[in-house]
Amino acid sequence: MKTGPLKVALAGLGTVGGGTVRLLHAHADLIARRAGRPVVLTAVAALERPSDLPLDGVPFFADARLMATQADYDVLVELIGGAGGIALDIVNTALDRGKSVVTANKAMIAHHGVALAAKAEAAGVSIGIEASVGGGIPVIKTLREGLAGNRVTSVMGILNGTCNYILTTMREQGRDFADVLAEAQRLGYAEADPAFDIDGTDTAHKLAILASLAFQTPVDLAAISIEGIRHISALDIQYADELGYRIKLLGVAGRSETGVDTRVYPAMVPLSFPLAHVDGVFNAVVTEGDFVGRTVLEGRGAGAHPTASAVAADLVDLARGRVVPTFGVPVECLAAAPSSGAGRRSAFYIRLMVRDEPGVFAGIAGALSAEQVSMEKILQRGRAPAGVVPVVMTVHETDEAAMARALERIAALAAVAEPPRLIRIETI
Ligand code: HSE
Repeated sequence: MKTGPLKVALAGLGTVGGGTVRLLHAHADLIARRAGRPVVLTAVAALERPSDLPLDGVPFFADARLMATQADYDVLVELIGGAGGIALDIVNTALDRGKSVVTANKAMIAHHGVALAAKAEAAGVSIGIEASVGGGIPVIKTLREGLAGNRVTSVMGILNGTCNYILTTMREQGRDFADVLAEAQRLGYAEADPAFDIDGTDTAHKLAILASLAFQTPVDLAAISIEGIRHISALDIQYADELGYRIKLLGVAGRSETGVDTRVYPAMVPLSFPLAHVDGVFNAVVTEGDFVGRTVLEGRGAGAHPTASAVAADLVDLARGRVVPTFGVPVECLAAAPSSGAGRRSAFYIRLMVRDEPGVFAGIAGALSAEQVSMEKILQRGRAPAGVVPVVMTVHETDEAAMARALERIAALAAVAEPPRLIRIETI
C-alpha cells in the first residue's frame, strides 16, 4: 500500500460535491484511519468559488478541464454530471494521465462505462462508481463483491428518489404531481432536467449499471424498455391503496436461460413485498442469488450526504489499494446476452373512464375474453347517469401482447371516454 496522503481533485461543487467536501472535512480523522493514510483535497473546480465550504487553502479552478490536466492529484472525483461534455472529458483526461476516477455520474457510466473501464484497466487504475446508483446504499459493492459467489438471477429496485418522493407525497398528502415535483427539486433530489427522473431515464441508467454487475454483461442502455410516472394520477394512487398495493417506479432486471430482460415501469407493488414500504427519497434494491437467496438493501437514494457517503467509500478503497474492475470482472470478460423480453407476462390494473349506461361491462368483458385475458376484479363506485365514472379492473397474469390488444378493443368502445390507464401488478 502507498504511503503519504491520497490526493483528490474534485470537480463540481453542487449538491453532491458540497456534501463530499463537508464529509471529507468533518471525518478527516476517521477516514484517515480507515484509509490508512490521509485523504486530502488538492484541487477543486466549479463555476464559482463557494464561500460556505471548508476549502481554505485548496487550489480552486474555474475550469474543470484545466484542473484535470494541470492539478496534482491521484484521483479525480467527477461530480459534474451529464453523459458527455465536461464530465466525460475530464474523466478521460484523468485516465490518460494514469489517475483513478471516482464518479456519481450514472448517465456517463451507462453510456460510456465499458469504454472507460477498459481505459482504466489498460492504465492500471480504477473507476469507483458506488455513488452512481442508490445514493448512499452500498449496492455496487454488494453486487460486485458481497454476492460474488452467486449466480444472480434478478435485481429489482426503486432507484430514483425523486419519483419515489413524488409518489409517496402524492399518496400521503393528496397533492398534485407538479407541486410535489417542484418540492423535490428544491430539496436537491431531482436531476438538472427533471424529465430524466419522471420519464424513467435516470432509473434506466442505474438499472443498466446494476444489470451489468449482476450478470457480467456489457452495460446495455438501449436494451431497456422505459416507462415513467407522468401518467400516474391521484385517482390511481387512491385505487392502489384500496386494492392493497403501492405504486412504485421499478427498475427490473432478470436473467433466464434465454437471456437478460431489463425494464423500467411504474408498478402496483403488493403490501406484502418489501419494496411497497420504501417511501420518500429512499431507494431499495432486492437481489436474488442462487446460493444466498434474497437480499434487500434500503437507504437514502439521493441528496448531498448519502451520495457523499458513497464517494467517500470509494476513496477509502482507493487509498487502501483495494482495486477491483469497475463491473466486477475485466471488460474482456463481459459477455453480451440476448434480450429475453419477448413473451413477457404480467398481471395488470386497468382504469377506464366510462359513460354510466347499461351494457358497458358486457363490452369490456367481451374485449378481454376475445384476447383470452382473465379478469380478477372489477369495481365501479358512484353513479353518474349523464356523466363519466371510473371503472377499475385487475386481470390475472397474462401475455402482455394480448393485454395490449384487449386494451385497443376496450379503447374503441363507444362508452369509453378517455384513453385507458394500464399499470402492471407485481406478482412476486
Ligand atoms: N435524481 C436522482 C434521484 C438523484 O432522484 O434519485 C440520485 O441519482
